[in-house]
Amino acid sequence: MKIRVLGSAAGGGFPQWNCNCRNCAGVRAGTVRARARTQSSIAVGPDGADASLWALVNASPDVLIQLRAHDDFQPARSPRDTAIAAVVLVDGQVDHTTGLYMLRESTRPWPLWCTDAVYADLTRGNPLIEVLSHYCRIERRRMPLDGGGFTVEGVRGIRWHALPVAGKPAPYSRNRESPVAGDNVALLITDESTRRTLFYAPGLEGIDAATWQAMQSAACVLVDGTFWSDDEMLRLGLSRQRARDIGHLAQSGPDGMLERLGRLPETTRKILIHVNNTNPILDEDSPERAELARRGVEVAWDGMEIDL
Ligand code: MLT
Ligand code: MN
Ligand code: ZN
Repeated sequence: MKIRVLGSAAGGGFPQWNCNCRNCAGVRAGTVRARARTQSSIAVGPDGADASLWALVNASPDVLIQLRAHDDFQPARSPRDTAIAAVVLVDGQVDHTTGLYMLRESTRPWPLWCTDAVYADLTRGNPLIEVLSHYCRIERRRMPLDGGGFTVEGVRGIRWHALPVAGKPAPYSRNRESPVAGDNVALLITDESTRRTLFYAPGLEGIDAATWQAMQSAACVLVDGTFWSDDEMLRLGLSRQRARDIGHLAQSGPDGMLERLGRLPETTRKILIHVNNTNPILDEDSPERAELARRGVEVAWDGMEIDL
C-alpha cells in the first residue's frame, strides 16, 4: 500500500499565520532552513496499476491545496469526480475535521469512519455533520473499538483496526476534562498482500501496554511529533499549557517519544508527524534534528510517500 503525507504540521500549520517564534519568523525570512508544512492529514491507497481510490485520513483545513498537489487525486472519469473514496478520522479536532467543509461540493454522500465519541462531538459541540447535510450528506460508518477490523469501501486490499489511545478530545468537546475511550485512536493499517502494517497516531499523550504492543507489530510507526519538550509552549510564552495537558507526548526527556522509539526493533521505520511550528526539529540545522538523525528517526514532510 501507499501512504502519502498530505500535511505534516500540527494545528496552525508552519509557518503559522500569527506566529513569530524562531521557526516561523526564520522560515519567513529565509534564515532558518526548514520546509513549510500544511496541517495534519495522510492518504492511504493500494499499490498497483488500478490504485485509483484512496482513503483520506483526517480532513485538514488545507485539504484543497493538498489534493491539488497530486494530479492522481483527480481521475476525471466523469464531470464531477475524485479519487478519494472515504474519510477516516482519528479524533474530532478542528485540524482533522474542518476539511470536510471544504469537500461539501461532493456529488455523493461521504462515507465517514469515526468512533462513537467522535461522532458525538461532531453532532453536538461541533455540529459539522448537521451543517454538511445541507450541502452533501455524510454517511457515518461506526469505527469498531472491540479489536474487530474494518475495510474502507473502495480502498482495496487494506484492513484497518482502531485502537483507543491516551489523549485529549478537542477543546470544544464535552469530554475535554474527562476523556472517554474513542476520543483518540491510533490506526493500524495493514496491506493484506504484503502483511505489513502502518501504526498511525498523530496524537498520543502516552504509550500504554496495548499501544506499545501495536507499535511493536508495525513495519512503520508514524507518530505524534508535536512537541520536542513538554514545556515548549510555556517557555516561549505562547501558552500556559504543557504538551501533556493538550494530549501530546513530547519527544525529549525520560520516557519521552524518542526513548520509546529507541526500544523498537531497528528494522521499524520511525517517522514523526503532526509537528508543531515551535518544534526545533523543523530546523534542519538544529541539534535536535541531528539527534533524530543519529537515532534513525525521520520527520514527515508534505508529499512524503511511504510504501508498505
Ligand atoms: C492538537 O492536536 O492539539 C491541535 O493541533 C490543536 C489544534 O487543532 O489547534
Ligand atoms: Mn492537531
Ligand atoms: Zn511559530
